[in-house]
Amino acid sequence: MAAGGTSPAATWDAFFSDFYLRAFADDARQAEDAEAQALAAARLAGCREGGDLLDVPCGFGRHSVPLGRAGYRVTGVDRSRELLDEARRRAGGDRWPKFVQADYRELPQPDASFDAALNLFSSIGYLGDEQDERALAEIGRVLRPGGRLVIEAMHRDALVRGFSEQDWRLVGSGRLLLEQRVWDAAGGIAQVTQTLVDGSGERDSRSYSLRVYSATELLAMLARAGFAEARCHGDLEGGEFSSATRLVIVARR
Ligand SMILES: C[S@@+](CC[C@H](N)C(=O)[O-])C[C@H]1O[C@@H](n2cnc3c(N)ncnc32)[C@H](O)[C@@H]1O
Repeated sequence: MAAGGTSPAATWDAFFSDFYLRAFADDARQAEDAEAQALAAARLAGCREGGDLLDVPCGFGRHSVPLGRAGYRVTGVDRSRELLDEARRRAGGDRWPKFVQADYRELPQPDASFDAALNLFSSIGYLGDEQDERALAEIGRVLRPGGRLVIEAMHRDALVRGFSEQDWRLVGSGRLLLEQRVWDAAGGIAQVTQTLVDGSGERDSRSYSLRVYSATELLAMLARAGFAEARCHGDLEGGEFSSATRLVIVARR
């Protein structure tokens, strides 16, 4: 863990791996919710039917796959080969999505390739302010003029308001996930340790430091990254934003 900052890329790569699949890919309820979230996010982004949609980062494809089946021309981009392998397995032989392995600070697509982009499930905050802003600018570059980016994330006010030092969850196949957190209020950094305990009692842990932005900070970053306008909502249906809701930002290129 880098003192005072976010974790280095190697820490994230070790987390978004087989460990992440065991912790998050097995949860049947989450899979159902993901389809509804994906469709709501595409609507909120104003993506036309059959439009070119970027899911970045796409993880193991839980949003990209149902969006492809709904007729969007989806490209899922992620840095993790293991998660992309699982995404391809879930897509089966479907024509869409296309999955691409890349870092979101350097997307391989040409300028103005997409009608809309999605960044879902707290997928920003890994790299520190400057590099996260670079990723936002890069997503803006590949959006067509007027295209929208939808960000859905935990935010600082909600984290502080509901802060809990640890909790347990059942994550499927008899596994428990313990999450322990320390909040660095000066840096706006959550230091998190996740421990998976399988049915036989065997444990496996990963620790990381994540920047959790306030809505104010993220809006300022989007403006600096070249987005013309951005609005906050409290959910993907466009509900009201508050310190108790998730943060959903719709930003127009
Ligand atoms: C919390 S997961 C969410 C993935 C997906 N949006 C979802 O809801 O399932 C965050 C993802 O970010 C990816 N990621 C982390 N750093 C990245 C980077 N620099 N470039 C591209 N993807 C990255 C990870 O591999 C992981 O799949």
